[in-house]
Amino acid sequence: MPRVVHTTTTDTRAVLEASGLTKVYGAAGGATHTALDTFDLRVAPGEFLGVMGPSGSGKSTLLNLLATIDTPTAGSVRVGGVDPAGMRPAELALFRRRQLGFVFQEFNLLDTLTVRENILLPLVLDKVKLPEMNRRLKEVTERLGIGDLLDRRPFEVSGGQQQRVAIARAIVPGPAVVLADELTGNLDSKSALDVMTTLQGLNDDGVTVVMVTHDPFAASFCKRIVFIKDGRRFSEMTRGTNRQAFFQQVLDALSVMGGAADDVPAARA
Ligand SMILES: Nc1ncnc2c1ncn2[C@@H]1O[C@H](COP(=O)(O)OP(=O)(O)O)[C@@H](O)[C@H]1O
Ligand SMILES: [Mg+2]
Repeated sequence: MPRVVHTTTTDTRAVLEASGLTKVYGAAGGATHTALDTFDLRVAPGEFLGVMGPSGSGKSTLLNLLATIDTPTAGSVRVGGVDPAGMRPAELALFRRRQLGFVFQEFNLLDTLTVRENILLPLVLDKVKLPEMNRRLKEVTERLGIGDLLDRRPFEVSGGQQQRVAIARAIVPGPAVVLADELTGNLDSKSALDVMTTLQGLNDDGVTVVMVTHDPFAASFCKRIVFIKDGRRFSEMTRGTNRQAFFQQVLDALSVMGGAADDVPAARA
């Protein structure tokens, strides 16, 4: 038996791990496109990781693979040390619902349900008992400052509020990691600041976040950013204490990478 070594300085466990992750799109016989090429990634508990790159660089492909929504052509994904590759569809759905929280650019809330019902949906699907559901609902809605919106429908609240509702729904099952794809893409700058501050607060409380974006403002809230280009890792950087300085470093990194000029919105740090 190997001896177990405990270190106090670094946490070597990974909540999310990708090894040699590769995705090739295209039908047999037709042209193929390698959207992601032998990509490695390791996300430790409590990280706030950004994945940045120009449009078409493979960010969403990577996130969908990490989310177990899509299957890789080669390589593997482990969530909390578990590889979901061999799971049956029902088992995989349950695994995903409990371990992964999702936040999308389009909010993806159900307009026929109230805000309360939208947030509770994953717990209802999981057959969580009513008192426990209400306890968790109270906790997340107070945390996100949306307690007075519960009886409204998604279309009756602002975009920033809808995204906070979506974040509440993502974290209510207590997932190992929250995955977000361009979550500020449909928000004005005030709402984007609001949502990013919220996400940062959750991360301060210990929620692990992996966020894909081409928005340098949103990315400047991350603690670490991995840059991706043509499906490959291009570079990586870590934030110091100053978010504004990091924003400038992100802009510089994007200009070094090239091909991103059209993607970078006007500076709004
Ligand atoms: N379902 C698909 N079928 C074929 N090609 C795809 C598919 N999804 C994405 N691609 C291609 O893969 C590349 C990476 O796409 P994507 O991961 O969406 O990039 P990003 O999110 O960084 O903009 C692009 O060239 C895109 O056109
Ligand atoms: Mg994308």
